[in-house]
Amino acid sequence: MNKLIDLIAGARPNFMKIAPIIGALKAAEAAGGKLRFRLIHTGQHYDRNMSGSFFEQLGIPDPDVNLEVGSGTQAEQTANIMVRYEKVLLEKRSALCLVVGDVTSTMACAITAQKLGVPVAHVEGGIRSGDWTMPEEINRMVTDAITNYFFTTSEVANATLRHSGVSAERIFFVGNTMIDTLLKQLPRFCPPSCWSEASLQPGSYFVLTLHRPANVDDDAKLKALMECVLRDTRDLPVVFPVHPRTAKSLARIGVASPKLITSGPLPYLEFNYLVQHAKAVITDSGGITEEATVLGVPCMTLRDTTERPETVTIGTNELIGTDPAELAPYLDRLFAGEWKSGGIPPLWDGKASERIVGHLQRLLENS
Ligand code: UD1
Repeated sequence: MNKLIDLIAGARPNFMKIAPIIGALKAAEAAGGKLRFRLIHTGQHYDRNMSGSFFEQLGIPDPDVNLEVGSGTQAEQTANIMVRYEKVLLEKRSALCLVVGDVTSTMACAITAQKLGVPVAHVEGGIRSGDWTMPEEINRMVTDAITNYFFTTSEVANATLRHSGVSAERIFFVGNTMIDTLLKQLPRFCPPSCWSEASLQPGSYFVLTLHRPANVDDDAKLKALMECVLRDTRDLPVVFPVHPRTAKSLARIGVASPKLITSGPLPYLEFNYLVQHAKAVITDSGGITEEATVLGVPCMTLRDTTERPETVTIGTNELIGTDPAELAPYLDRLFAGEWKSGGIPPLWDGKASERIVGHLQRLLENS
């Protein structure tokens, strides 16, 4: 008998993780497998530039269901996703709910499914920053507390799960689905319009992204950060695709500089073209530190903690902290040509999704 898996995608960083899993599920079906899927978009991100363009560029099919929750507080979004996903499950129950990453949609759907007795699989399970002020950390902890099958990206995650009492047969070290997408799409990367407009040259500009509440919600903090970034990157341009959350604060503080190139959020292929050719990336995102590591591009993370330590211990990333004054010595090191070269963490090889689907077939097809 066929087994139906719900694939949950809600916010931008979910889309690149779910795309290769869909590809691997389709390949398994074409080869006669019994797994089927239903793609559920929660609607947490809904703009074309936060959602639609990713579906198009990554070849993700239209969702079977869109819960259309839209924006709101953490509690509003969580509650609305739960109420709406519960209706979907009550109408047609699935054999498994597969969630990815650490966004509100991840946690909300995991809770809803498990409360109805639908087992949960968590792709990117087991990672921890230890920082409970980040909504993502709460999402990770709650999700992992009620997950049946963990698909992990690192040995550190495996150890964290084992230490928290998860038995080894529920932990599957598969690699990183975000890197599956990166490696698959790499030949298609293409320059955004600012590339020619600003005459950008490989290795001669920085990419900046900021969206964490700790960095962008306080105007004085954001202003200080922007001033340091613009000063310490010397005479090189800074390309800053601005997240909608950040756009509101940035408009209020009114930073202007001839070397600052801002745009709205960029599509996947254009954004990663910029990263691939940058002198370095300055970011508070987690996912971008993984992509920079695989692309071999120096990365500076404006956070005090990371749930992805292998990007620092193995990769090109350094944790700078949130005090903008800490940035200067790292940029000095970069300009002196002394940045570490970095390697690629185990199993970040483009095959994580195939491994996940292999495990799902063993777990579900014979049950
Ligand atoms: C969410 C995720 C974060 C992820 C980030 C990537 C959580 C808790 N956080 O944060 O982990 O790194 O997405 O983007 O799930 N907005 C739009 N258009 C959209 C979506 C949002 O304008 O399509 C606006 C909202 O109105 C809100 C702001 O962006 O003002 C923040 O959106 P929200 O989904 O609440 O959280 P993010 O900060 O995007």
